[in-house]
Amino acid sequence: MKKTVTIKANNKEYKLPVVIGTEKEKGIDISKLRAESGYITLDPGYTNTGSCESSITYTNGEKGILRYRGIPIEELARKSDFIEVADLLIWGTLPDKGMRKRFTDMLTNNALLHEGLKHHFEGFPFDAHPMAMLSAMVNALSCYHPVLAQPHNPREIEKAAAILISQIRTITAFSYKMSRGEPFIYPKPKYSYAENLLYMMFSLPHEHYEVHPEVKRAVDLILILHADHEQNCSTSTVRMVASSGANLFASISAGIAALWGHLHGGANQAAIEMLEEIHSGNMNVKQYIKMAKDKNNSFRLMGFGHRVYKNYDPRAMILKKLSKKVFNVLKHKDPLLDIALELEDIALNDPYFIERKLYPNVDFYSGLIYRAIGVPKNMFPVFFAIGRLPGWIAHWKEATNNNRLQIARPRQIYVGPAKQGYVPISKRSTK
Ligand code: CMC
Repeated sequence: MKKTVTIKANNKEYKLPVVIGTEKEKGIDISKLRAESGYITLDPGYTNTGSCESSITYTNGEKGILRYRGIPIEELARKSDFIEVADLLIWGTLPDKGMRKRFTDMLTNNALLHEGLKHHFEGFPFDAHPMAMLSAMVNALSCYHPVLAQPHNPREIEKAAAILISQIRTITAFSYKMSRGEPFIYPKPKYSYAENLLYMMFSLPHEHYEVHPEVKRAVDLILILHADHEQNCSTSTVRMVASSGANLFASISAGIAALWGHLHGGANQAAIEMLEEIHSGNMNVKQYIKMAKDKNNSFRLMGFGHRVYKNYDPRAMILKKLSKKVFNVLKHKDPLLDIALELEDIALNDPYFIERKLYPNVDFYSGLIYRAIGVPKNMFPVFFAIGRLPGWIAHWKEATNNNRLQIARPRQIYVGPAKQGYVPISKRSTK
């Protein structure tokens, strides 16, 4: 028999069906609640609201679990690479050799931007934030690929995914070059995905940039760790925009805009800025901890806390180890790493953080690795976006391939003025 939950309202009982997921997580299906009882639910920030059923990613915040299509993130981090993970997220299974080669070839063949798109960069001021450029350029892709903007079959989705995944890297590198007034460098087919990204960013026509194999692997690993995280703010944005029938490129462009915020993908930049402030001597670790705990201050310890994880973020765990490895191979020293370790140690032993189960998240250590590689701060969220792209595409595909897709349109409880008449301007009291 199907499980139900009973709620009482208007002196009547309403039986609501229970939905149970693969890992036994339970949800109450309230889709008929308003029609039957007149009530809606109120859940600002959607902390208790499931917006969809999804078969892409599983997280368990209490246990610190993250799995893509059932495979633990730790295993993917050890054994896989970013492009294979992209395939896994978008298509649901690990690719066989043929599929893998086919998609790699497609990425190579679609790496170049349309020449027309290149001119868009000239319209941006040199100090434009790269997330603004990225969002605009991805949206502009719909003008150059109108058919693929609304892909209808697996072949079209594959092509659109290849264009997006390959060209987001080219757009990133070009926006970096533009900000420095340096000539664009074109990708080389023989290089891997992460290698090409760094090569296009850091090479100069007269000075070849050799990517260290460990750095290449580190960037690939960072991209894997960011590739999906179920219904986070930017992914929910992608799904919400898609629900209106908006095209793939426009939906992803909106996701990039959502990711930019400092509580989401912008937190890696904000976390490093916080560590820099401490290093400069303007603030010390204790002052930051005090500020984070102060109820009258909106400041939050950047790179700490998570809506889902009430335990150590498994991605942060991997990144912490990775940062030490990258520092070793590059013989890089960074006082900010010591500050980060001190901050973490103090926070994890402080009752405020313990009671609220606030641990370092994915954004706490990633910025230190980017810094070691030479990636400027304002590009950190862009690297997050490159990593998250396969997840966004997978969610767009899942949402739009659903016959029961409805336009996402939450309700509200109106608390404004009750009905009142229009007052002509001559009769309005002056303020
Ligand atoms: N520093 C200090 N206090 C915090 C922090 C923090 N970083 N995070 C949460 N809290 C407190 C919060 O003030 C609240 O306290 P109280 O119960 O006394 O009111 C309690 O912990 C619960 O917080 P919440 O606001 O209900 O948590 P949330 O799920 O709404 O927010 C978050 C999650 C990630 C937005 C938040 O932890 C935060 O602002 N962290 C800093 C920004 C950050 O690092 N963001 C990256 C998130 S991970 C990558 C991604 O998904 O983008």
